[in-house]
Amino acid sequence: IFAAVEMAPRDPILGLNEAFNADTRATKVNLGVGVYYDDNGKIPLLAAVKAAEKARLEAMPPRGYQPIEGPAIYGQAVQNLLFGAGSELTESGRVVTAQALGGTGALRIGADFLHRMNPNATVYISDPSWENHRALFEAAGFKVENYPYYDPTTRGVNFAAMKAFLLGLEAGSIIVLHACCHNPTGADLSDAQWGEVVEACRERGLVPFLDMAYQGFAEGIDQDAVAVNLFSASGLQFFVSSSFSKSFSLYGERVGALSIVTASKEEAGRVMSQLKRVIRTNYSNPQIHGGAIVAAVLSSPELRQQWEDELAGMRDRIRAMRSGLVEQLKAKGVEQDFSFVIKQRGMFSYTGLSAAQVEQLKNDFGIYAVSTGRICLAALNSKNIGYVAEAIAAVVKG
Ligand code: LMR
Repeated sequence: IFAAVEMAPRDPILGLNEAFNADTRATKVNLGVGVYYDDNGKIPLLAAVKAAEKARLEAMPPRGYQPIEGPAIYGQAVQNLLFGAGSELTESGRVVTAQALGGTGALRIGADFLHRMNPNATVYISDPSWENHRALFEAAGFKVENYPYYDPTTRGVNFAAMKAFLLGLEAGSIIVLHACCHNPTGADLSDAQWGEVVEACRERGLVPFLDMAYQGFAEGIDQDAVAVNLFSASGLQFFVSSSFSKSFSLYGERVGALSIVTASKEEAGRVMSQLKRVIRTNYSNPQIHGGAIVAAVLSSPELRQQWEDELAGMRDRIRAMRSGLVEQLKAKGVEQDFSFVIKQRGMFSYTGLSAAQVEQLKNDFGIYAVSTGRICLAALNSKNIGYVAEAIAAVVKG
């Protein structure tokens, strides 16, 4: 049966974990996957999560099937976080939210839903984008193209090119937008530019799909929701995939959500009925534990505050690593200006290192990064930052 099966390439991000785990060097550092580690190099279990988990374990609840779309308390918590508690959108019943298997799962059920609606639409992703965006939408059956985004000369967004491109798209095109902390570049749109993107989507009749995997990692929960807020205020219909992997440090629990903003409560009912069919034929219904923890934290004022404080702590530590790396590179005699690392937002830095330099980091130093030059700043700590700076200095000096 399998004689003709060819070997597939390793995943460009998760495949790095496999190579990293097999590396026996004690000094190795994994700057590949987007995971937050604390200053001791450990993935934290947040205190707010621990408290909710303890209460849950004590209650020992039964493990029946969940509703196909997940429990209402979870959907409500997600909507409050994305659209604001008591907002017109959350009150109107125009938004449907389904619990999903992480942000990736949310993207996938959204993609499958869209494909059932309009299989001939083209999906546009930013150039560059998260490595899995293209593969995921192609796997759902779509043709996937790029829209202009990053400008390596300014290390920012080429907004004029992006906007002109959007204004030239066919109605019904699906446009995947990184709501904050653009992955991989860390270059986000300004609030005013977001306003122009919303208007372009309206003018051309585009289908906006916001990917929100890093809410809270740039400025804060509310500040990072600017794009979502502007789309909400526009009256347009749109999709949001969101994830608690990073913000709750619950990677392996696979907790995310897909929210779809529709035109009316009645429309929302029809959309949810179809989304449920997509979910039922994929994995039936979502797992309980991670979603229950997130819902418990978000619906308790004390735990929510504790979580926001812990999230702020992660955000601040990443910022400190950004400036620390820039300082250390200077101290190691690197002449190239790396100050852009401080301005980039979220977990990543798009360093501009070439694939060959990334390969050299791996071979000579046991430092793993994505071949595009993306490094995860959240994996740096006070113990490894000097070593990483020294290695980068060595590869950029040639
Ligand atoms: C990443 O970009 O590293 C993360 O979003 C993890 C993943 O699933 O790729």
